[in-house]
Amino acid sequence: NRRLDEWVKLEQLDLDSVETVVDEKVEDKVASLKMTRHQKRKIDETHVEVGHEELDAASLREHEEFTKVKNIATIELGRYEIETWYFSPFPPEYNDSLKLYFCEFCLNFMKRKEQLQRHMRKCDLKHPPGDEIYRSGTLSMFEVDGKKNKVYGQNLCYLAKLFLDHKTLYYDVDLFLFYVLCECDDRGCHMVGYFSKEKHSEESYNLACILTLPPYQRKGYGKFLIAFSYELSKKEGKVGTPERPLSDLGLLSYRGYWTRVLLDILKKHKGNISIKELSDMTAIKAEDILTTLQSLELIQYRKGQHVICADPKVLDRHLKAAGRGGLEVDVSKLIWTPYKEQS
Ligand code: ACO
Ligand code: ZN
Repeated sequence: NRRLDEWVKLEQLDLDSVETVVDEKVEDKVASLKMTRHQKRKIDETHVEVGHEELDAASLREHEEFTKVKNIATIELGRYEIETWYFSPFPPEYNDSLKLYFCEFCLNFMKRKEQLQRHMRKCDLKHPPGDEIYRSGTLSMFEVDGKKNKVYGQNLCYLAKLFLDHKTLYYDVDLFLFYVLCECDDRGCHMVGYFSKEKHSEESYNLACILTLPPYQRKGYGKFLIAFSYELSKKEGKVGTPERPLSDLGLLSYRGYWTRVLLDILKKHKGNISIKELSDMTAIKAEDILTTLQSLELIQYRKGQHVICADPKVLDRHLKAAGRGGLEVDVSKLIWTPYKEQS
């Protein structure tokens, strides 16, 4: 999964266990690598002559190579020092720093601790910018419009990319809303995770990227954020689905959520129920319901139709395997109206 990849020093390698037999396939690969490098030089030469920068396949490949290696190794954010997982395209002037210091409220980042300390003395934010749309106990959700808070949105994307491998970074934060989850205390509201959502999605995506910061993972916040995204869809009167591809951890969390929500309904429901009805009740897209129930082997194909077959004992077994429910979203505490473009 490439998480936590890093450069290692020679002393860190255990050379005693290296096998000396050279695999022929490896040799073939090395030969073909050399070929491509040679070819690449040729392409580069023609490129200089012709001058088609944007269309150059070699530089594209070079970019892919470049982003393979992690640039920032750790970040400081609030009370935590966090090891990063992946490359994130910070502006070039930050690329020589192994560690970055983030203001946990406005998410501005700096290269030196003293800069952060100076910043903290004058930064007057104590929570994410935008509207608090949910509060229950010490948990709050803030809705941040990327158009109104561009710098915050961009900072959040840089930060999130450090933990998201397969997502391309959107610089166009105008088109997104960010839902930032915070634990609040007398010092302020401390971000623990977030999800982003397109203001208008043609593909009925109700979530673009989701992240729980590593120190807060495995506490149920991921499930809370997923549940929250579906509560927003219900208020919009739409069905939704997360943007693809899902990461390994993303898929695990979604599968767990879908399984629990659907099986809870099937357990309580008397009589027949269709996938459409399940979709209307949960705002989960019909395809996701179908794949979830299929993977649990609760669907049979009879007389040209998908039929849900739910034996109570089987349901209980699956529910147990799906794990804990996580933190509940208390819908009565959500004060929100769907996004409308202001003219
Ligand atoms: N190992 C095994 N299972 C895991 C792990 C793990 N490290 N992390 C989560 N899970 C599974 C478990 O089933 C867990 O339930 P359980 O704790 O009851 O067993 C379930 O996923 C969700 O657990 P939560 O505590 O609710 O989720 P968490 O707060 O850890 O957040 C998330 C999940 C958001 C996916 C987090 O792992 C993360 O931020 N990962 C990095 C970014 C990422 O991959 N995001 C998804 C990309 S896809 C997209 O954005 C559309
Ligand atoms: Zn700040």
